[in-house]
Amino acid sequence: MVELVKQRPEGSFIYSMTTKVYFGRDMIGNLGAELAKLGKRVLLCYGGGSIKRTGLYGRVVTEVRSSGLELFELPGIEPNPRVTSVREGAEICRKEDIDVVLAVGGGSVIDCSKFVAAAACYDGDAWDLLKEKVTLERCLPVVTVLTLSATGSEMNASGVISNLDSCDKIGMAYSKMLPKVSFLDPTATFSVGKYQTACGSADILSHIIESYFVPKNESMYMFDRFKEGMMKTVIKYAPIAIAEPENYEARENLMWTSSWAITKFARAKQLCDWSCHSMEHQLSAIYDIAHGHGLAILTPRWMKYILGPDTLFRFVMYGVNVFGIDSSLPDMEIAERAIEETEDFLFNKLGLEPRLRDIGIGDDKIELMARKASRGEVVPAFKPLSQSDMEAIYRMCL
Ligand code: NZQ
Ligand code: ZN
Repeated sequence: MVELVKQRPEGSFIYSMTTKVYFGRDMIGNLGAELAKLGKRVLLCYGGGSIKRTGLYGRVVTEVRSSGLELFELPGIEPNPRVTSVREGAEICRKEDIDVVLAVGGGSVIDCSKFVAAAACYDGDAWDLLKEKVTLERCLPVVTVLTLSATGSEMNASGVISNLDSCDKIGMAYSKMLPKVSFLDPTATFSVGKYQTACGSADILSHIIESYFVPKNESMYMFDRFKEGMMKTVIKYAPIAIAEPENYEARENLMWTSSWAITKFARAKQLCDWSCHSMEHQLSAIYDIAHGHGLAILTPRWMKYILGPDTLFRFVMYGVNVFGIDSSLPDMEIAERAIEETEDFLFNKLGLEPRLRDIGIGDDKIELMARKASRGEVVPAFKPLSQSDMEAIYRMCL
């Protein structure tokens, strides 16, 4: 698709979301027919084996084969997926003349599959696609079957890949990587354990927070209310999903919220902050922790750090509309209570360990992480952060 837009005046946006979504129980019966529209030779990508334990693998294989398609496999995609897996998958695509890439798993499997599909059509090394934006002439079509509600990768054009050689974890978006079709069956997430459910929910909440905490002129009344509704949904249903893993209502609410939390729809106009995400990606690049857990530790400390006269109005809106704090209280008190409520949700209700030291992370890489996260610049954001600001926030998390 050629980008025809010549200019984008301030406050305007382009919205295009072309992923076809099958949502609900047993919609996977449509998988074979959808794949057949895209080609005959399918590369099935999956992670460390959860889909075999749940029986989803068998259902997918049956669907693919009974539709007369040929199946090839890329198993073993790591959480925090590595560029080595992308290279391996791209090599299979070229050797076996693959037509379509099928991702069955969480965000890591989907992200890796997107870059497999892109790298298969790219002449240089796969890491070039992450280091900086290149012109991507072609990309194989990607179809996803989601098994974990968290990243929104099933309905966006981004992927995040790690390179262990350089200790980098980089996110990049290419419109051609947007999944053509995604299958979202909440029952596929019944088997997600308490910890990953908590991490996924923290990630969803963070995606909303990162685009909710923006300057006044960057938002719209409609965006703000929509995001407050999504935040309330996560806060209501994540603890239920943790206590009752097979509660369909909880799982379906989390799943559909995860898909919408990070799409362009929810942040079409805004400057999006992404401060916590850029700091978290350094943590999971170096220490290989779960992305959502890193965000849970960072987010309330980032809130405390940026709270001030210029940002106060957002905290008041958040406290009153999301947590129902009494609007007649002094603004600063509302803001401080809102941060306490956020901590209570992440650390008590979701049960995530609150400090970096709890998960074995000390202060020895803080300067390096802050340098990489800030790229030596003051990152444009709701509250622009320099390297030393980021170092201070990491220290607050110890
Ligand atoms: O590998 P398997 O065996 O499948 O097990 C996974 C993995 O161990 C397991 N799991 C997944 N579905 C399951 C299940 N276990 C039981 N039952 C199921 N139904 O959960 C573990 C974590 O999976 P992973 O895919 O790593 O989790 P998540 O979905 O949170 O993805 C995290 C990755 O996505 C990136 C993160 O940085 C991280 O690398 N992100 C991608 C984004 C995007 N594409 O837009 C945005 C996000 O902000 C994020 O950065
Ligand atoms: Zn995230």
